[in-house]
Amino acid sequence: MEIIDGNKLAKTIKEELAQEVEQIKANGGKIPHLAAVLVGNDPASQSYVRSKVRSCEMVGFESTMITPDADVSEAELLDIVKQLNENPEIDGFIVQLPLPAHIDAEKVTLAIDPKKDVDGFHPQNFGRMALGLPCYLPATPFGIITMLDRYGIETSGKHCVVLGRSNIVGTPISLLLSRKAKVGNCTVTITHSRTKNIGEELRRADIIVAAIGIPHFVKANMVKDGAVVIDVGINRVDDATAKRGYRLVGDVDYAEVAPKSSFITPVPGGVGPMTVTSLLLNTLRASRKEVYD
Ligand code: GUN
Repeated sequence: MEIIDGNKLAKTIKEELAQEVEQIKANGGKIPHLAAVLVGNDPASQSYVRSKVRSCEMVGFESTMITPDADVSEAELLDIVKQLNENPEIDGFIVQLPLPAHIDAEKVTLAIDPKKDVDGFHPQNFGRMALGLPCYLPATPFGIITMLDRYGIETSGKHCVVLGRSNIVGTPISLLLSRKAKVGNCTVTITHSRTKNIGEELRRADIIVAAIGIPHFVKANMVKDGAVVIDVGINRVDDATAKRGYRLVGDVDYAEVAPKSSFITPVPGGVGPMTVTSLLLNTLRASRKEVYD
């Protein structure tokens, strides 16, 4: 069994990006610039956005944070998006989700210029991904693909079972792994809350992607010997012995499943750190106009 170390891989990729920035500087090119819009003061969102901005600093990207109050109107937020769309200094930007209930998140996502949509949430990028056209891949699926690639895990002809059908993980990773690509060519089964016997489906998997949001859902008896296990879950469970009163666990019962697997991602320290790396890679691609001219 080999642990797929997301922290280590993310660090390697950040070092590579820092070298790219040095090259750009040496050539007098434009330093990639990411902007992040954080509405209100939700602690989890604040922590995610801070981590994105800190990562920009680590690799030498420029970053801008815009922090409207929670009572910002939808029109005001749409105006911020419009300004970012039109600002040539900004290569890409994100609007951190979730947004307060009085704001239509779909309307905001649609207002983002697809050329600057480094989250890959705009339907134009999602559609281009489905068609195999150049696009920004959403952060979590991109991170998973990068892990499989960098660890040299063969996917072609393998049976992949995805647990969950969300728009940001289950559905896009299913599309990507079935695509004709270096990391792809899998036979993919998507399972969800209406699937009749999830355990039976999972036992057939060479590769499992668990993104269901239920702590320790995947047990050893659902996993074939030698399976590759990618755990996307980040669930808080009460733990009186922990300083914060809780600890983070994945959708996979790691202690049970790890000994049966060939490769497995831990939680924390697996897929999570790769999502920020994906955002940085997308921002670099945006600054180079690699996706759209
Ligand atoms: N909220 C949770 N994950 C994400 C993400 O990847 N992007 C944005 N914009 N909001 C999020």
